[in-house]
Amino acid sequence: MESLSHTSSRTKARLWGEGPGGRALPASSPSPSSASPGHRSVTEAAEALQSSVSVRTVRSLRFSRGASGSAQTLVSSGWTLQRKMISRGQSVDRMPRDRTPLIQKIAKQAFVCFKHCLTQAVPDQPLPDQHLISLVTALRATDLKLVPRKSSRPEEGAQSPPVTYMHICETPEFSMGVFLLRAGSSIPLHDHPGMNGMIKVLYGKLNVRCFDKLDSDGTTPPEFDPALPPSQVPSLCRSTLRCVSEYSADSAPCLLTPQRDNLHQIEALGGPAAFLDILAPPYDPDNNRDCHYYRVLQPSAPGSESPEETWLLEIPQPEDFWCGGQAYPGPPVSM
Ligand SMILES: [Fe+2]
Repeated sequence: MESLSHTSSRTKARLWGEGPGGRALPASSPSPSSASPGHRSVTEAAEALQSSVSVRTVRSLRFSRGASGSAQTLVSSGWTLQRKMISRGQSVDRMPRDRTPLIQKIAKQAFVCFKHCLTQAVPDQPLPDQHLISLVTALRATDLKLVPRKSSRPEEGAQSPPVTYMHICETPEFSMGVFLLRAGSSIPLHDHPGMNGMIKVLYGKLNVRCFDKLDSDGTTPPEFDPALPPSQVPSLCRSTLRCVSEYSADSAPCLLTPQRDNLHQIEALGGPAAFLDILAPPYDPDNNRDCHYYRVLQPSAPGSESPEETWLLEIPQPEDFWCGGQAYPGPPVSM
């Protein structure tokens, strides 16, 4: 088992590295050992049942010689007693609990869900699958031992990063981490080329604006205000605003795919916010999966462009945005 809670991450390199859970009685399949002890009387057996009701005891009663008829009755009594005890909240022979942390389940399912996305341009199944969506939807800040930030903290001066990233894990198939946004801060409009993504609010509220890139061939861009220098025309990107939505901790995750809602701007509303971020595959500049930033341009004559058309300009990382790093406090994740 390799722990993946290290902090080497291309995700951070792109978005934060660049700035200041009793087992049921199997009556039909008893094991030979459980069919002992053989010559106990019904009375003895009843005493045993009353004094120490357990699945093992009930099993031995069921297969004791000389008490077969009554033993069956005792088996029934034993079950009745078990049910009563269970209904009173007493422990008889508990079902084993699945104590796997939710974040570990999410990581495992993310691997299953996204393992083919590196080799299949168009996956057989829509990504992510419903099981992963359900697991992520159930995630809360407490599952990651996250304590919501106060609206303002003395140490949050002008020098502190507006956004902080907690790295959880990264594999070739996906990366997973938590972004913490200070009150009033936002992650500028950026893309995820060739990638799938999931955003799940852990605390606070987010406003997310999603765009799709459109084919620019043969489309003459409008005039902008202010006018665009000719040198920047090659950096223009025709797009469409897909949605503007608010998310809270009770919301299902916001999803993106290589073709849909792939660009987004994320803003904290009404205070600090945090969200789980899953990207599949992870950012990787060596494989054409680098992060680009954009600014929405305003046409000089509003209404001259197609109603669904929005023009974006690729820009360097905005100076007022950088991402710090912070240790992830939650359950370790391993694959
Ligand atoms: Fe993003």
